[in-house]
Amino acid sequence: MSNNLLSGKRGIIFGALDDQSIAWKVAERCHEEGAKITLSNAPVALRFGKIQELGEKCNAEVIPADATSEEDLEHLINKSTEILGGKIDFVLHSIGMSLNVRKKRDYNNIKYDWMQKTFDISAISFHKVMQTLVKQDAISDWGSVLALTYIAAQRTFPDYNEMAESKALLESFARSFGYHLGATKKVRVNTISQSPTMTTAGSGIKGFQEFFDYADKMSPLGNAPAEDCANYCVFMFSDLSRMITMQNLYHDGGFSNMGMSPALLDL
Ligand SMILES: NC(=O)c1ccc[n+]([C@@H]2O[C@H](COP(=O)([O-])OP(=O)(O)OC[C@H]3O[C@@H](n4cnc5c(N)ncnc54)[C@H](O)[C@@H]3O)[C@@H](O)[C@H]2O)c1
Repeated sequence: MSNNLLSGKRGIIFGALDDQSIAWKVAERCHEEGAKITLSNAPVALRFGKIQELGEKCNAEVIPADATSEEDLEHLINKSTEILGGKIDFVLHSIGMSLNVRKKRDYNNIKYDWMQKTFDISAISFHKVMQTLVKQDAISDWGSVLALTYIAAQRTFPDYNEMAESKALLESFARSFGYHLGATKKVRVNTISQSPTMTTAGSGIKGFQEFFDYADKMSPLGNAPAEDCANYCVFMFSDLSRMITMQNLYHDGGFSNMGMSPALLDL
């Protein structure tokens, strides 16, 4: 169902890999709501993922960019403004990757060059995207920039490993850039802290299924599905949310404010 909430808006969506990706659902919903978008992902993901399929469905050009490369980002943003016919109104950063997690190195045995790569891909890329938008004067006044994050930035979830620090850095960039972009362009910058979700990145975490079930029981509304996250993103890109900025917004079925749930005690 469409309410044309994004009619006339232009957006860039990073991070759709396959139809389980949160970014995939966000792209579909933005398209339904009348936005014109471009899609981007790392060149390797374009080879192995299914993003071209999504591009056809959403009538969106797919533009490769390694989000750690300033040169790739400059090209992507230039190309997007050209294809979409003007400045960008909204951006979704839905990017996360940790080599230490992927290679199953635990927190006491981190490889530091991998940790730096994790920070670069999962957090510093967010700064790079915003800085490139500013340098190219490519973001519209009253635009909206979002990144996806996880509550491990605030609380300890041991198997989330160095991604916890990545998310803390990502959220901090949202606050800092939220000031700068707000003061100069009235652009808002926020993070959405999403429930555990069955995706390629999510299920790469050790013990993810058990953890997913635990969070589902702990949350009075249950885990928030990716489709609902997409609806929340549409709202955050729409003019209905124009005064919300510099926030970390929990989209987690209530998990973040729970202490203990009887559902977990097998009563
Ligand atoms: N799945 C969960 O449980 C969960 C929960 C909270 C937050 N998140 C966050 O949501 C976001 C999206 O993840 P997802 O769960 O949809 O998984 P996903 O695996 O579908 O998406 C992660 C994306 O990051 C992309 N990526 C990796 N390295 C890149 C690079 N160098 N340049 C550009 N793109 C690159 C991947 O190709 C992939 O498309 C991530 O930031 C993740 O941390 C996920």
